[in-house]
Amino acid sequence: MASSLALLFLSLLGSTHALPPRISFLLNSPERPLLHFSLTDVSNTTTLLLSNDSSTLYVGARNAILLLDVSRSDVISLRSKVTWSPSDRDRGDCAYKGQDPEVDCQNFVHVVQRMNSTHLYVCGSNAYNPQQAFIDLERLLVVQQDEARGRCPFSPFERSSTVVIDQELFAATTTDFRGSKPQISRFLSKDGRPDISLDSSISLLEPRFVSASLDPAGQKLYFFFSEIGKEFSFVDELQIPRVAQVCKDDVGGQRILQKKWTSFAKSALLCQPPQQPPFNILEDMFTLQPPEGADASETLFYGVFTSQWSRRPESAVCTFKLKDIRDVFAGTFKTLEKETYRLKHPVGRKYLGQCGLSNSSDSQLSEVKMNFLTSSNVNPVAPVLVFPGQKYSRLVVMKAMAANSQQYDVLLLLTESGFLHKAVPSDQGLRVVEEIQVFREPQRVKSMILSSSKGLVYVGTSEGVTAVPVARCLSYRSCWQCILARDPLCGWSPTRKTCTGLDGADDDVVQALEGISGSECLPAEQILQHQEVFVQPDEVMTLHCVKPSNLTVLSWSSADGAVLPDRLFIQAADGSLRFLASAATFGSYRCQAKEGDVMEVVASYDVRPASGPRHLSKVNRDPTTLSPEEPTVIPVSDEPQHETLITNDSDPEERVTQAKGDAISDQAIVPTSRKDSRSMKDPAEEAPTQRSYHSELVVVSLLLAACILVLALGAVRLWRRRSAGSGSDRLPSADDGTRTNTSMAMHSLSSLEDGGLDQTIIP
Ligand SMILES: *[C@@H]1O[C@H](CO)[C@@H](O)[C@H](O)[C@H]1NC(C)=O
Ligand SMILES: *[C@@H]1O[C@H](CO)[C@@H](O)[C@H](O)[C@H]1NC(C)=O
Ligand SMILES: *[C@@H]1O[C@H](CO)[C@@H](O)[C@H](O)[C@H]1NC(C)=O
Repeated sequence: MASSLALLFLSLLGSTHALPPRISFLLNSPERPLLHFSLTDVSNTTTLLLSNDSSTLYVGARNAILLLDVSRSDVISLRSKVTWSPSDRDRGDCAYKGQDPEVDCQNFVHVVQRMNSTHLYVCGSNAYNPQQAFIDLERLLVVQQDEARGRCPFSPFERSSTVVIDQELFAATTTDFRGSKPQISRFLSKDGRPDISLDSSISLLEPRFVSASLDPAGQKLYFFFSEIGKEFSFVDELQIPRVAQVCKDDVGGQRILQKKWTSFAKSALLCQPPQQPPFNILEDMFTLQPPEGADASETLFYGVFTSQWSRRPESAVCTFKLKDIRDVFAGTFKTLEKETYRLKHPVGRKYLGQCGLSNSSDSQLSEVKMNFLTSSNVNPVAPVLVFPGQKYSRLVVMKAMAANSQQYDVLLLLTESGFLHKAVPSDQGLRVVEEIQVFREPQRVKSMILSSSKGLVYVGTSEGVTAVPVARCLSYRSCWQCILARDPLCGWSPTRKTCTGLDGADDDVVQALEGISGSECLPAEQILQHQEVFVQPDEVMTLHCVKPSNLTVLSWSSADGAVLPDRLFIQAADGSLRFLASAATFGSYRCQAKEGDVMEVVASYDVRPASGPRHLSKVNRDPTTLSPEEPTVIPVSDEPQHETLITNDSDPEERVTQAKGDAISDQAIVPTSRKDSRSMKDPAEEAPTQRSYHSELVVVSLLLAACILVLALGAVRLWRRRSAGSGSDRLPSADDGTRTNTSMAMHSLSSLEDGGLDQTIIP
């Protein structure tokens, strides 16, 4: 026990280094467009359900249910809205019980399920008095409404799991105002059979329900959650991720376990990387159905976990096989003793964990009552995928058929901070192909669903619904960028000279998912931007170069490949090249991007002396105003010759903006500008080239020194004035303390202003 604890905490010290997401797109980046839907009068659009034909998105919101038309890929529109608000009485009671009338005493729709072809089932918190209702999809009316304790939570913020199978409702939630009494129940039971619930209040301990899934063959339902584990008494409040089962046709026992599950059992899910403590908090679980025609036992469950011991953000993804879950529930069980699950002896009765026990003897059912925790854990298949530095809260998974006819798992993971990460597990570890910002403010309640047929992920937040295409291959501008992305959903088409989705249309698409050989792209298939720049001697030149990905290292050379001397050129941390225009520095330069073993020229410039009337109006004559925002660069407006602007994109508009050559279009050409990655605290940021790092350091030190000097001067001055003016009439009355402070603050500010140090404040 002690040794396992030691192991647990020892391993917290080390953490593996991971690559940052290869490409980052900020919210509403033109390179990676998203579809948004929101209404000014509807918020908390957080419960999502897609219709079977993927043409309608049902959304549970605050005081409303929305039907959204998602049949078009370029727009989400409102088909209809059903208002469903709490009564004044419910709101009054809610406020009386101490909840905030505006914030909490509303109807937050927790559950939207399809009941049958004509009706939706909905359940809402209804001002801390849960109500359920049916919605007639033809007339768009709430047709029946009643009390719904146990179907969905009282609290707007609590998660619960619900499934409807054959018009029966299975729900895992808490059943009281305080959210302290968990239950797993069947409601709307058919054919006169009773509604069923859990026998013992101790069979679950502060669970956080995450999802539910049906075992298609076994007639069993699985609920996934984390709860406090009592079986280990050595750690307080130890969280354990769990799977629980019930049989959907359970009708309870005859004398013992009347109207209670005779099939309830639970087990621990193990998600523990080697030499690390387990990731023990289940954040989300996604059920990946087996491919068409395959056996149901090939169903996979993908769980995203965090750890209760992590001191920095980290997550792990573990995959569980349906077969392993079935096997664990067919094995031996621990015996409940004095509210601790002491393993008295493994109970290997054949009937434990089975369906169809309702006619069993009293002694058998007594045993069922006391033996619901399995002896063994469910172990994951394949290696545990660890994501250091990321806290993921939701995931969906899709299978993608790559050009080599191999199936790849594509994981879409939502971070707490609002980024969607697309990750692909491979033999070399896990690669985050891209990250896309989906929302700005962290969201307490959110949800995510996948439409594989449409290739879209829908994210529901308090602000609205956002659809994210799982891939946008066009954002990879060159052959190498397309290949280096190693995105199973994208490949390079040499015939069409574009990065394209793998929808079976092209049979010649090039990918290198298992490793890049270097022969995938032809030299001509480059991203190159070429520009000519005309400058006056002694002007400070800044030539921009934007990293095509966060994993790229940029370097500058002259056109013939010669290294640029340090004493004339500075390569800034943002990738740009700076120098003073002079006879020695007029010439041609190129910026190379290196990622792995692939080197690609991404920009080239001809810097020439400005002379003659052609450039008079265009050249920026004031050297002090040179900044990245200013167009310091004039593009070639004529036909490009040898090394020129190659747009792999067929979009003519982009070519036009590019030809205008302003700095803004430079940023638009390649999505990951330094600005993007900086605002996302890209770890690669911390390792700029040696030289530029040094120059930044010098500037920072100078600034720091200047600040200290200013403060010191200010203090000296202030002290002088105060000692000179003490007791004089000019000071405000002593009783007005705040005003005195203000005037003091102004003194020090003014001393800063006339301190004569402004030349050290570098622009
Ligand atoms: C669908 O369910 C609703 C609510 O339970 C019921 O009123 C209706 O008759 C059902 N319709 C069909 C076609 O089963
Ligand atoms: C509802 O949305 C508001 C913002 O519109 C947010 O502050 C609040 O936390 C949300 N509540 C829930 C239960 O999601
Ligand atoms: C239990 O017994 C009753 C009658 O004794 C029978 O109708 C029912 O089908 C049995 N149930 C099961 C699950 O075997």
